[in-house]
This record gives sequence, structure tokens and C-alpha cells, in this order.
Amino acid sequence: MASVIRFSALLVGLFAAIASAVHPVDVRGQEFVDTVTNKRVMIIGADYQPGGQAGYGDGKDALSDGAVCLRDAALLQRLGANTIRVYNVDPTLNHDECASIFNAVGIYMIIDVNSPFGGESLNRDEPWTSYHKEYLARIFGVVENFKGYPNTMAFFAANEVMNDLKTAQENPKYIRAVQRDLKNYIKKHSDRPIPVGYSAADVREILEDTWAYFQCDHDDDQSRSDFFGLNSYSWCGNQATFNTAGYDVLAKMFKESAIPVFFSEYGCNEIMPRGFNEVQALYGKEMSALSGGLVYEYSQEESNYGLVEIEKNGTVTLRPDFDNLQAQFNKLDIALVQSADPSSTSIKAPKCDAKLISAKEFSKNFTIPAEPPGAKDLINNGIKNPKRGKIINVSETKVAMAVYGTSGEAIKDLSIRKLTNDDSNTPNGETTSPPESPAAAGQAAPSSSPKPESAASKLTGGWTLLFAVFAAVLTVL
Ligand SMILES: *[C@@H]1O[C@H](CO)[C@@H](O)[C@H](O)[C@H]1NC(C)=O
Ligand SMILES: *[C@@H]1O[C@H](CO)[C@@H](O)[C@H](O)[C@H]1NC(C)=O
Ligand SMILES: *[C@@H]1O[C@H](CO)[C@@H](O)[C@H](O)[C@H]1NC(C)=O
Repeated sequence: MASVIRFSALLVGLFAAIASAVHPVDVRGQEFVDTVTNKRVMIIGADYQPGGQAGYGDGKDALSDGAVCLRDAALLQRLGANTIRVYNVDPTLNHDECASIFNAVGIYMIIDVNSPFGGESLNRDEPWTSYHKEYLARIFGVVENFKGYPNTMAFFAANEVMNDLKTAQENPKYIRAVQRDLKNYIKKHSDRPIPVGYSAADVREILEDTWAYFQCDHDDDQSRSDFFGLNSYSWCGNQATFNTAGYDVLAKMFKESAIPVFFSEYGCNEIMPRGFNEVQALYGKEMSALSGGLVYEYSQEESNYGLVEIEKNGTVTLRPDFDNLQAQFNKLDIALVQSADPSSTSIKAPKCDAKLISAKEFSKNFTIPAEPPGAKDLINNGIKNPKRGKIINVSETKVAMAVYGTSGEAIKDLSIRKLTNDDSNTPNGETTSPPESPAAAGQAAPSSSPKPESAASKLTGGWTLLFAVFAAVLTVL
């Protein structure tokens, strides 16, 4: 008993030291769940890679500059996001400032363990050549680096390794092997479970088989996915509907999923600016089997999917997509979205079996490759010289760079709002882009419509007149 009391005192001390930290997330059946409140965690967020792939390398990555993260966390918090996905991180860098800033504003991080550099991801054409001890040491390094942050929500073991039937022959079992190794490493070296999964391209001829192959249970060998991410771009423009976008097919496909499924990327850009009315469908009743999603992507890069434009000097301008997405998030009923469904949290995965796979060309081999030489030692004893992150105090809250709304007006006094209740961030109903100032409106159209004040005073004048008439009538009576 005494030791129990001492242990709880220790826990209280620990949480006090961490100050406010989002609650770790775990997987139950097809839902992500907050381990403290037991509420469902719906992913509301964006993919975060300022600078694109070029933002990684030469001693930097998307989470290595605290001032940049502070600026972006302030904007993502206002957007209503509770999660970011970061594609390329360097496990030898210090990410404490960025991770702590995102933690302070209630934003989780989903981290890809790979990078586009040679030897830092599976080679889809011959995966067996890239599955070796040095590769595993790299991805275990990412686990070491991020396991200490409470807002590390999950790891992606692989992204879009398969993109057609041909690449679905040899790769599935190697991806499961990587998941197994990551999960065994986490089990041995992390003091809490951190889910591991795959992010799939939306290639419909392999989609259902991919999900079925990864979620099934194979002799409890740890190789199954804990969740399934889908990069989905089928809803294009505000004229699209649940049916024309094929969301009906997805809703049916994943209804009985035994693991959480979410959009790891979404937001077709064929029609610009994007109106994002798929948000109401994604978080609506018909898609409740899915756990939300991440919009592609925070910053404007060559591929033209940005919510904001970032200049070289650090200045940011919001794009209309930011305003539109924020308005869609503001319409969500968060309490409803985060209510857990007991029947969904108890779904069990089927046993792996060739019958689960329908395409002739898709792998039906569930014999997962053994660990490469040297891997068992890494898993049992840990990697050499791990660089482990930890949450630090966030004292700076004011954004140093200039930030402008869609009209070109400056957003004044931008800062992060530290959450004090250990909660995650939610949409708060605000519109971050300031309205166009009268002066700017005048500049843009010198001789056009009356300024807002004159319209307002006309209205006030109308009321004054009406009141005077009313008073006069009363006097007469
Ligand atoms: C940053 O760069 C942009 C675009 O080149 C420019 O318009 C802006 O004035 C610069 N801001 C500062 C503070 O230097
Ligand atoms: C299945 O995969 C295992 C492990 O990679 C391999 O040894 C075996 O030959 C494969 N079986 C078939 C039928 O291809
Ligand atoms: C962090 O802040 C807390 C509370 O303000 C303080 O007690 C603690 O000493 C600070 N820790 C560091 C490392 O600055």
C-alpha cells in the first residue's frame, strides 16, 4: 500500500514537471482513444513539411527550428487542428522545442520513420535489398528521438510503397516485417505503446487487399498494422458528393475495420481554391468508421496544395484554402465527433488467410521475412548513442515573423495559446484572416462602393429615424 502511495506521488510529480501535456493516444478496435479521458480521438489536421522534401537534410528538418514551429503552431492551432503529420525527420537532431510547442497547443504528431534518401526507406522494386540492420538502426533512432514526447501519436512504418498490382507482390510482407521490428523495439524501449501503421496510396485495385493484408492477425507476431492511413484525393470541388467522390465505397469497405482508418492525406486541388466541403462528409455519421484525416498540406510547395504561403524571410500569408478549411472545421460538432462507440472499439482482427485477398496478383504470402542479421541485437539492447527527446518549458509564445491574412491585412499580436488542461486542440469558431481594412479596400478600388463605416452609419441613421418616429407616435398617443 505504502509503495502504491509513493508511486502515485511520483506520478503526480512527473505530470507537474511536464506541466501541461496532451494525453497519450492508444488504439482500441477501430478507434484512437485518449488514454486518460477514454474519449475517441478524431484526427483533425494537416500534413506538415515546410520546404517540401528539400526542407529535410543538411542538419535541418520540419521540426528542428523552434521559431518556425512557434509561428506554424499558432496558425495550426487557430485553424482548429489537433494533429500534424511530419514526413522526414532526422533522428540525430534535437526536436525538443518544436515537439514541446506543438504539445503546449494540444497538437499531436504522427511521424514517418523514413526519408527519401537512399538506405532510409524500403526500395519498392527490390525491398529485400533495403531491409537491413543499418536501415533498422535509422528507424529505431526515430523511435528513440520521439518516444519521450507525449504528443507523439503514432509512427508511419512506410508511405505509398505499393502503387499498383506489380508492387503488391513482394512489398506487403516486407512492410509487415518493418512494422514487426518497430513494434518490438517500442515494446522493449518505450514506456508506453505507440501505434505503428502504413500510409496507402488511393489505388482502388489494391486498396482493400492492402488494408486486409495489413490488419489481419498472423500468429501474434507483432507484424500487423495498428492503424491504416489512406491518401485520398477523390473528392474534387464543392460539386462532388458522398457518392460521386466514392466515399460510399470507402465507408462500406472500412465499416468493420478492426483497426483505425483515417485519411493520411486529403484535399484534391483540381478546383481552386479548395472549398473542403468533404470535411462535413468525412466527420459525418456515414463515415464514422473513419477517424478523420490530415489535409495535404500546410505550406504551399511546388505541387500547389498549400493552406499558407511561406516566404524565404519567414513571412506567412494565409491562402483562401486556409479560410475555407477553418470555416469547415468550425462547423463540426466536436462533442459528437469524439464520442466513442463501444461496439467499434471491440472489433477483433481476422486471422491472416489467402481468402482475405481478392486480386490474383496481390501477395497471399503471410510468411513474414525474418529479421536481417544483427537486428535482434538492436531490438534487444537498443541502438548505439540514441538521441532522446524530452518536453521542455515553452516560455516564448509570441510569433516573431509577420503573418498576413488572405486580404493582405496583418494578423496582429499572433502568439500560441498554451492549453492548461492537458487537452488537445479543437476548432474554436474563429476566423483568423482579418477583414480587409477600409484603407486597403479604398486602394484596391478607388472610386467604388462606400466604405464599411458609411454603410454602418447609414444603418445606424435608419434606426435613429425609426426610433424618433416611434417616440413621436408615443407622444401623440
Ligand atoms: C519578406 O519577403 C516578402 C516577399 O519577398 C516581402 O514582401 C516582405 O516585405 C518581406 N518582409 C520582411 C519583414 O522582410
Ligand atoms: C513467402 O515468403 C517467405 C519469406 O519471405 C519465403 O521464404 C517463401 O519462399 C515465400 N513463399 C512463397 C510461396 O513464395
Ligand atoms: C519549467 O517551468 C516550471 C513551472 O513554471 C518550473 O517550475 C521549472 O523549473 C521549469 N523548468 C525548466 C527546466 O526551466
